[in-house]
Amino acid sequence: MSKVEIYYFSGTGNSLVVAKDIAEKINGKLISIPSIMDRNSIKTDADVMGVVFPVYYEPYGGVPLIVRRFIRKLEGIGSKYIFAICTYGSGSFVTLKYLEKIIKSRGGKLAAGFTVNMPNIMAGPNLNNTKKQQKMFEIWKKNIEVIYEYVNTRKEGKFDAPNALVGKVYGLIKLIITPLIFLFKPLTLRHLKRYSDSSKLPYEELLQFMDRSFHTNEKCVGCGNCSRICPVGNIKMVDDRPSWQHHCEFCLACFHWCPKKAIESRELKDTVRYHHPDVKISDMLREKN
Ligand SMILES: Cc1cc2nc3c(=O)[nH]c(=O)nc-3n(C[C@H](O)[C@H](O)[C@H](O)COP(=O)(O)O)c2cc1C
Repeated sequence: MSKVEIYYFSGTGNSLVVAKDIAEKINGKLISIPSIMDRNSIKTDADVMGVVFPVYYEPYGGVPLIVRRFIRKLEGIGSKYIFAICTYGSGSFVTLKYLEKIIKSRGGKLAAGFTVNMPNIMAGPNLNNTKKQQKMFEIWKKNIEVIYEYVNTRKEGKFDAPNALVGKVYGLIKLIITPLIFLFKPLTLRHLKRYSDSSKLPYEELLQFMDRSFHTNEKCVGCGNCSRICPVGNIKMVDDRPSWQHHCEFCLACFHWCPKKAIESRELKDTVRYHHPDVKISDMLREKN
């Protein structure tokens, strides 16, 4: 019998739900990526490896920093069936291609890649529109079967779930935007540069300073949940207030999960607090994972 492992990273639970559902369906072991990042190298005897994560900043390749670092630590993956599922908010055009490249650099092959449309945790006031959410979640429930079929038969290829709100036109949008996505780099860079002392830093370093965009308001009671939920331990409590340590993934877990809505960000002025409705704060705490 083959051994299946599902590695995941998630800020607000979208990717966690996807990882859990698929792990259950294919009888795989669920492993949180942050929980194993203290290892110098990562080796496994699993025959099948799944990687599940959210898309961050498509113009820069879409793969979160921690997932890049995780892949770079993998060893002995040449003979494994590797599949990936990325959850995205608006559109995923290049993320799987970028991931494929990193996996290849480690001697492995991304055999199958899937995208899943989920609520966009960066988006503004409509994030909690339950009708739109339900549509996305229903589509995901159907697509589990497709992914299961691929993985179960070790089929290779890609299955791209269209943005639930635009439907069939998504294919056309993807065709147009994919070759142009890198033109959006300056737009992203403008945001990233606001928080770093040196605007010449590469993307991977600039992103880590995005935590300078966070601050607390008067509702903060010093409960420390933000510190316990940050997947990369980037928040220290100093005088009962969070202090960000500048190795941020910008996953927004601190912002979205704060029970008092006391964390704000200059980058998220209209964004309402969201987390996947099937995920509880206790599922996300670092000590649990
Ligand atoms: C820093 C950041 C950048 C993002 N960039 C994109 C993007 O380029 N394209 C997109 O479709 N969604 C983007 N999103 C939205 C997330 O990919 C999406 O909401 C995802 O499902 C969140 O998953 P999680 O709940 O597992 O963290 C971004 C989210 C964050 C926090």
